[in-house]
Amino acid sequence: MKFKLAFIGFGTVGQGLAKILVEKRELLKKKYKFEYDVVAVSDIKKGSVYNENGLNLEKLLELTKQTGKIESYESGIKGLSSLEVIEKSNADIILEVTWTNIETGEPGLTHMKKALGSGKHVVTTNKGPIALAYHELMETARKNNVFLRFEGTVLSGTPALNLSLEDLAGAYVKSIRGIVNGTTNYILTQMEKGATYDESLKTAQKLGYAEADPTMDVEAWDPVAKITILANAVMEGNIKPKDVEREGITHISLEDVKKAKDEGKRIKLIAKAWRENNEVKAKVSPEKVPLTDVLAHIGGPINALTFETDVLGDVTIVGPGAGGIEAGYALLSDMLAINRYLSEM
Ligand code: HSE
Repeated sequence: MKFKLAFIGFGTVGQGLAKILVEKRELLKKKYKFEYDVVAVSDIKKGSVYNENGLNLEKLLELTKQTGKIESYESGIKGLSSLEVIEKSNADIILEVTWTNIETGEPGLTHMKKALGSGKHVVTTNKGPIALAYHELMETARKNNVFLRFEGTVLSGTPALNLSLEDLAGAYVKSIRGIVNGTTNYILTQMEKGATYDESLKTAQKLGYAEADPTMDVEAWDPVAKITILANAVMEGNIKPKDVEREGITHISLEDVKKAKDEGKRIKLIAKAWRENNEVKAKVSPEKVPLTDVLAHIGGPINALTFETDVLGDVTIVGPGAGGIEAGYALLSDMLAINRYLSEM
């Protein structure tokens, strides 16, 4: 199938996907019968370009690299707002990759509601709207007969959601436990090697792991959003980020890390969701994990999640949890899933 794509947001993740799309265009066509035209890119800082017949993605990437802006692109309609692109463009898939806000979900939440309401598929890595309004957004998608896919909201491109929602379909997930934030896992790993907290955070920011506001990572708001998404989407929970017990890593000292090591343990920021009296509960907090636990061996920006199921026991997935290309890939895998489903209809 051929899809018309609109990027709402063109930061690290949007550009990550764009690079993959350019590089894999032939493979995607040949192997998966997936073809695309990017008809719009709209970014609050870089500007907005729309051409119903398609834009040259390589040129847009080059312009972004050279000037940080895209409005000098040679053709098309300039200056449309994100909402105008969503409502008026001929795109069939809206790639919502604006920044994450887990208090209000905005502007992503409005973008998604408008897109789904106007019959467009939404593919996103934006955690805020999904953590705050998963059930409502899925209902809107269902009513409008379109897809809402959000693989990249948890473990970036490592297919934790596809694994649990599709490959483990029919299995009852009793609990979920894991490491779902790359930045804090990187910091804790570096601290074990003797680096200070501040140095490690700076490097995590430089490497593109951290959120625009790193408080989201180190105060555990980001993993709270992710475990909320997992609890609601995989365990049929109905919780909000504010219901999740939360403790970050800012108070962890080099001494704490060393003490844990001397005890044969590692400090890890653990996210978990479990069932209690017919309700799903969740918590994120640092834990001293014994070396006999697989999670103790997940280092750097790598993440891992264990799904405790009725039919298979524990199923664990390990992979990158952060990064532009990694999150960009999640968007591609979601689009390929839409392509598969629609081709089978
Ligand atoms: N800041 C996030 C992390 C990015 O470090 O895991 C991926 O969601």
